[in-house]
Amino acid sequence: MARKILLEHIDVPGINTYDVYRSKGGYASVEKALKTMNPQDVVEEVKKSGLRGRGGAGFPTGMKWSFLAKPEGVPSYLVCNADESEPGTFKDRYLMEYLPHLLIEGMITSSYALGANTSYIYIRGEYFYLVRILEKAISEAYANGWLGKNILGTNYSLDLYVHPGAGAYICGEETALLESLEGKRGNPRIKPPFPAIAGLYGCPTVVNNVETIAAVVPIINMTGDEYAKIGIGRSAGTKLISASGHIKKPGVYEIEMGITVEDFIYSDEYCGGILNDKKLKAVVAGGSSVPILPADLILTTANGEKRLMSYESLADGGFATGTMLGSGGFIVMDESTSIVQNLHTFARFYHHESCGQCSPCREGTGWMEKIIHKILDGHGTLEDIDLLWDIQRKIEGNTICPLGDAAAWPVASAIRHFRHEFEEFVKNPSAQREVKYYFHCNNIDTAAAYSSI
Ligand SMILES: Cc1cc2nc3c(=O)[nH]c(=O)nc-3n(C[C@H](O)[C@H](O)[C@H](O)COP(=O)(O)O)c2cc1C
Ligand code: SF4
Repeated sequence: MARKILLEHIDVPGINTYDVYRSKGGYASVEKALKTMNPQDVVEEVKKSGLRGRGGAGFPTGMKWSFLAKPEGVPSYLVCNADESEPGTFKDRYLMEYLPHLLIEGMITSSYALGANTSYIYIRGEYFYLVRILEKAISEAYANGWLGKNILGTNYSLDLYVHPGAGAYICGEETALLESLEGKRGNPRIKPPFPAIAGLYGCPTVVNNVETIAAVVPIINMTGDEYAKIGIGRSAGTKLISASGHIKKPGVYEIEMGITVEDFIYSDEYCGGILNDKKLKAVVAGGSSVPILPADLILTTANGEKRLMSYESLADGGFATGTMLGSGGFIVMDESTSIVQNLHTFARFYHHESCGQCSPCREGTGWMEKIIHKILDGHGTLEDIDLLWDIQRKIEGNTICPLGDAAAWPVASAIRHFRHEFEEFVKNPSAQREVKYYFHCNNIDTAAAYSSI
């Protein structure tokens, strides 16, 4: 049986309410932290746990917390990144919908560790129904003494606010998020300074993903050392994976890191195999921004070893033969999928979402979309494929924020592993257009759904 830590009580009826959550041991980590630990002890436990940020980059959380500057008389902030706009990723919304008190508990314990007395949950605009759920849970937490002044009779006080964005992918980038939270246009800032030194309102700030903050709860309850025993090597703990595409059982799964990719795709415990028992063609393992891998490379590393669901194993081989765990948005494509048509959907998304501050991203994402569209339209040439390759190379590493890289990597990997499909499209476009594509970016779809209400 799969090991469940974050989702241990997910099937308990009413677990989204305060009373049921509390009856299952909810808020124990706050009690333990505030009554028996000083803030630095909490930071040390998180360090020991080996927890890495679940928002995409996988940066060690305890280390990030220890970078937080503590100038005298200046407030510090904890900001939860609940923007979750990465196409293929929907695990944070699952946590917030079904376990809102887990996030709030994690926010209190983490804010205590960081010395923050005001904290924010910045949530994407399209998740408006979750704003109501979170606000209800927050008012229950206030009513029961977990938020507000002198929590549990200690001298620690915390106010927690939910702040909806306007629905822009770029506002998931932590510095754009902070700009937006300050009421400005969500443009990424040039780093350094990093938020740990000058973040929200110029004060020291930690920005962490929803799942990262939720994971602090079991870490404090079970101790960092025990948490570090779960998972594999530097990929400690469990990870929520949003599984979608051509699989029999799409959904959100909590996996212990280190299970094989094969097991994740084919076992009944998780995805249950490929829909209609077709052949696996490709997988985007960590949200649309990470390189796509063909079936042989996602199942097996270049050394012939079974690939594992872990930061290290998915990255094995670098971008020549590997990819990234990213946000855990696991998109499975069967043999009927057109890689070029899928790529067009991705390219359209990144072009639409570029904030426009830097030329390689602003212009390059548009050029890439147009060239792929030209190929799809039947007017492409073989030189266009080389041009596409050249453009993505000139974006990567040359922009203010990683959205440029995120736009370049899907293009690079599609050409690297599926160049023949681009060539077939150029030579015989009408035959290629018969191939159906299935994937639609969640942002664009959600925006369309909202505009039709
Ligand atoms: C374009 C872009 C979009 C991002 N979107 C998100 C997001 O929706 N949620 C998230 O947690 N991190 C997102 N990130 C990563 C954040 O910048 C940041 O690294 C993360 O919130 C840190 O949290 P963690 O350490 O807990 O992973 C995004 C980054 C980029 C470049
Ligand atoms: S890389 Fe793109 S999204 Fe990021 S700052 Fe530059 S233009 Fe804006």
